Amino acid sequence: MIETRELAKTYGTFEALKGIDLVVEEGDVFGFIGPNGAGKTTTIRILTTLLEPTSGTARVAGHDVKEDKQSIRKVIGYMPDSFGVYRDMTVNEYMHFFAAAYGIPNAERNTLVDGLLDLTDLTYKKAALIESLSRGMQQRLGLARTLVHDPKVLVLDEPASGLDPRARIEIREILRELRRMGKTILLSSHILSELQEVCTRIGILERGVLVAQGRLDEIIASARADHEVEVRTTDDARAAVVLRELPGVLKAEHDEDRRVVRAHVSEELDLAALTAHLVGRDLGVRGLTSLDPTLEEVFMTLTKGLVQ
Ligand SMILES: Nc1ncnc2c1ncn2[C@@H]1O[C@H](COP(=O)(O)OP(=O)(O)OP(=O)(O)O)[C@@H](O)[C@H]1O
Ligand SMILES: [Mg+2]
Repeated sequence: MIETRELAKTYGTFEALKGIDLVVEEGDVFGFIGPNGAGKTTTIRILTTLLEPTSGTARVAGHDVKEDKQSIRKVIGYMPDSFGVYRDMTVNEYMHFFAAAYGIPNAERNTLVDGLLDLTDLTYKKAALIESLSRGMQQRLGLARTLVHDPKVLVLDEPASGLDPRARIEIREILRELRRMGKTILLSSHILSELQEVCTRIGILERGVLVAQGRLDEIIASARADHEVEVRTTDDARAAVVLRELPGVLKAEHDEDRRVVRAHVSEELDLAALTAHLVGRDLGVRGLTSLDPTLEEVFMTLTKGLVQ
């Protein structure tokens, strides 16, 4: 649905995008992750035809961003990272304004607007002035607005930025609903954990380079040369020393505060062997937990060496 090849963008002499090959399949909810300045908005503006790439190609629903701008604008719904709100309009007027702008026939507008306000849970605010809405409500209204022309592809630039946890969950629920409706969604964020719940695939962008893309579990697996376990024993200080003797244990440290031993072990090491080793040295094992890396850790691993 979205495909870029060697996509690059230079502002003056600054290379904001250094040739990225992005693939978003139909039906994906694709999380586009990267820290501030990584190039997320630049990529999104190219995909939505608002910015010309310096080199490389990008296609959305089969249309080239340089050659077929109008076709792309019909199939894409774009929510910018900040959008001007027409503060002295009511929610209903605002939605009707955009429905008219997209050429939705008059007779269909009421049903369309009511449906979208229902989807974004704003029906009860229909007559409210936009300036009276909370930030979370304004974000939901922004989302409703991007849906008026029933686009197949949604491109959302940080839809959850500045929202409290509850408002984030509400946005997530709406995204799930849109996914069920068959939309393909690309959303950017620098909050990694937020994407874990809702995305089918992610891409990690760092300083204009796409360092990884794929299913989240695959990316986690590929980033993991070793993994971490926590062991609770009858004598943690000694257990840390004993564990360091075992081949396959890369590091073992006694965490006195949490009263555990944290060990980095190679993927091949059997956890039963680890337990047997401790027991063989007269250490009772009270608990063993294998820790999955957090997305933040995966991100740090993948972007290691890229930071100048
Ligand atoms: N119009 C411009 N002129 C010059 N440099 C720009 C311009 N727009 C963006 N840049 C630079 O390009 C880089 C990428 O910016 P971009 O806005 O795409 O990042 P981002 O990933 O969206 O960041 P954020 O998380 O802060 O929104 C940044 O270093 C930025 O300073
Ligand atoms: Mg941005």
